[in-house]
Amino acid sequence: MKSLFKRYTPFQIAMHIYAWSALVHLIIDFFTHNLTANPIQAMEQRTGRHAITLLVLSLACTPLNNIFGWRELIKRRRALGLYAFMYATIHVIIFVDLDYGLAWSLIVQTIIEKPYILVGMLTFLMLIPLAFTSFDIWKKRLGKNWKRLHKLVYWLAPLAVLHYAWGKKGDFFRLQGEIILPLIYAIIVIILLIMRMPQVRKALASVRDRILVLFRRRGPQPKANTP
Ligand code: HEM
Repeated sequence: MKSLFKRYTPFQIAMHIYAWSALVHLIIDFFTHNLTANPIQAMEQRTGRHAITLLVLSLACTPLNNIFGWRELIKRRRALGLYAFMYATIHVIIFVDLDYGLAWSLIVQTIIEKPYILVGMLTFLMLIPLAFTSFDIWKKRLGKNWKRLHKLVYWLAPLAVLHYAWGKKGDFFRLQGEIILPLIYAIIVIILLIMRMPQVRKALASVRDRILVLFRRRGPQPKANTP
């Protein structure tokens, strides 16, 4: 146990436990028939929610590091993004295989008829290159283009939220129906994207520096040397 805590930080352990336990929970619920009257829909919804949650968490790493100076978050960004991709892939497999039985013409028809599915597909297609090029070797190979490519994440998160909100029955403007959770995700994504704007980043960094100075002043003062 001691060596586990030496090798991994508490945040790292919590992140891996969350990511894997959600999958184990889903598998147990599937085999124990604990997944509502429509188990395929329940699995689709749960994997979709885990994918979007992990995606938003990975998007939050940079702004939170900018505010709190918590450098570890930058190191965890990739794992969170890859876990998001893992859940999105399971989500898509459930849709094409369990839900539509690999009936490709029906799948294409659904994509055309339901715009929120089209948005989900676009989100997934954007996630694929990000996941595969997230490793250091690709960072080196792609050079400046790596940063350009990974800016896709700014489109990806809003698209994922749009897919989520559009698939729900409700009215965003009248705040009616099942829109509360998608709305919360939308607000978080908007705040995170605003926090990445250069002017906002600068303002937040200066606030952080001022708070740090204040804390240092209030901290224990060095004792005067008494002869
Ligand atoms: C080809 C790509 C995709 C397809 C075909 C697809 C399909 C679906 C379908 C059919 C549902 C509705 C389930 C229901 O309520 O009956 C759904 C919901 C959802 N999807 Fe996707 N999806 C795709 C990609 C994604 C991606 C990439 C994400 C996130 C990163 C995502 C996140 C969600 C979320 C959060 C929900 C709502 C879950 C809930 O109702 O609580 N989807 N998706």
